Amino acid sequence: MATHIFTTLHHLLSLALIIPLISGATVNTCRSYCGNITIDYPFALQYGCGHPGFRELLFCMNDVLMFHISSGSYRVLEIDYAYQALTLHDPHMSTCDAIVLGGKGNGFAVEPWRSPYMNPISDNVFMLIGCSARSPLFQGFPGKHLPCRNVSGMSCEDYYGCPAWDLVGHRAAGSMYGSNPPECCAVPFEAIKAINLTKLECEGYTSAYSLAPLKVDGPGGWSYGIRVKYSVQGNDDFCGPCEATGGTCGFGTDGIRQVCMCGSLNSTSNCDSVKSSSSRRTWSMVEALAGLFMGKLVWMTANQN
Ligand SMILES: *[C@@H]1O[C@H](CO)[C@@H](O)[C@H](O)[C@H]1NC(C)=O
Ligand SMILES: *[C@@H]1O[C@H](CO)[C@@H](O)[C@H](O)[C@H]1NC(C)=O
Ligand SMILES: *[C@@H]1O[C@H](CO)[C@@H](O)[C@H](O)[C@H]1NC(C)=O
Ligand SMILES: *[C@@H]1O[C@H](CO)[C@@H](O)[C@H](O)[C@H]1NC(C)=O
Repeated sequence: MATHIFTTLHHLLSLALIIPLISGATVNTCRSYCGNITIDYPFALQYGCGHPGFRELLFCMNDVLMFHISSGSYRVLEIDYAYQALTLHDPHMSTCDAIVLGGKGNGFAVEPWRSPYMNPISDNVFMLIGCSARSPLFQGFPGKHLPCRNVSGMSCEDYYGCPAWDLVGHRAAGSMYGSNPPECCAVPFEAIKAINLTKLECEGYTSAYSLAPLKVDGPGGWSYGIRVKYSVQGNDDFCGPCEATGGTCGFGTDGIRQVCMCGSLNSTSNCDSVKSSSSRRTWSMVEALAGLFMGKLVWMTANQN
C-alpha cells in the first residue's frame, strides 16, 4: 500500500516534469526592457516583433525609451498595458512652471497609416499658446464660436493661474468681441486631428490629461504629458491564440502580415498548426507516454481499494 502511494507520487512527479517541457518550450524572444519599462506586445524594439501597426515606433537609448512619429520624438514615461495607454513627454512642451515659445514643440501628429492604432485620449487637453489670428483654428468659426473649450474640466482660464504666465503675461481673452484671438486655446485632439504648431501658426503648446476618477483641481496638480490610447484594431484575434499555444507574435518582412513565431518555425496562425505538421512524432510520443502514466495511475488507484 505505502509503496503504491510512492510509485503513484513518483509517476505524478514525472508527469509534472514532462508537461512544462511540452507547453512552455518556446521563450518569448520579443519581450524586453528599456530602463524600468517593459516592452511587450503590441510594442517591440526589434523589427519583426510585436504588431505591424507599432513597427519602428519605439527606440531605447541609454535606458531611455523614445517614441518616434512624424511630428517628432518623445520620451515614454509609462506604458499601461491594462488600460492600453502610454504617456509621452515632449521636452519643448510648456508646463505650469515654464512657457516654451518659438514653435519648438512637437505637438502631436502621426502618419496616416498609423492613426487607426493610436490617438490621444479624449480626456487629454491640448492648450495652444500664442496662435496667430490667421491660424486655421480661428477660421470658419464666425463670431465667438471658436473651437476652444474646456476639456475634462481643464481650461485655459485655469492654466492662466500657473506661475509660468507671470513671466509672459496674457491678453484678456475674448473681451468685447475682440479681434485678437485668446492667448491660449484648449482643444481635445479629435477637434483638429493633428497638433502641428507650424500649420496652426502657434508659438507653443502644453498638454495635460486627467485619469478618470481622479479629479485634480488647479493646474499645478494636472498631469502634464500626452496620454495616448493604443489599439490593435481587432487583430488580437491573431495574437491571442498564438501566445496561448506558446508562440510569440510578430510580423513578416513586408511589415504587414502577422507571424506567429514558434521556436525555430514561423506559423501564419498559431503554434498548434506548426506542431501538428512538423513535430507530430514528438507529440505522439509524449502523448503515448502521458497516456501510459495515466493508465497506470488509474490501474493503481483502482487496485488500492
Ligand atoms: C521608473 O524609473 C523612474 C525613474 O528613473 C521612476 O520615476 C518611475 O516611477 C519608475 N517606474 C516604474 C514603473 O517603476
Ligand atoms: C520568423 O519571423 C521573424 C519575424 O519576421 C523573422 O525574424 C524570422 O527570421 C522568421 N524565422 C523563420 C525561420 O522564417
Ligand atoms: C506641419 O505643417 C507643415 C506646414 O503645413 C508641414 O510642412 C509639415 O509637414 C507638418 N508636419 C507634420 C508632422 O505633419
Ligand atoms: C471653463 O471652465 C471654467 C471653470 O473651470 C469656466 O469659468 C469657463 O467659463 C469655462 N469655459 C468654457 C469655454 O466653457
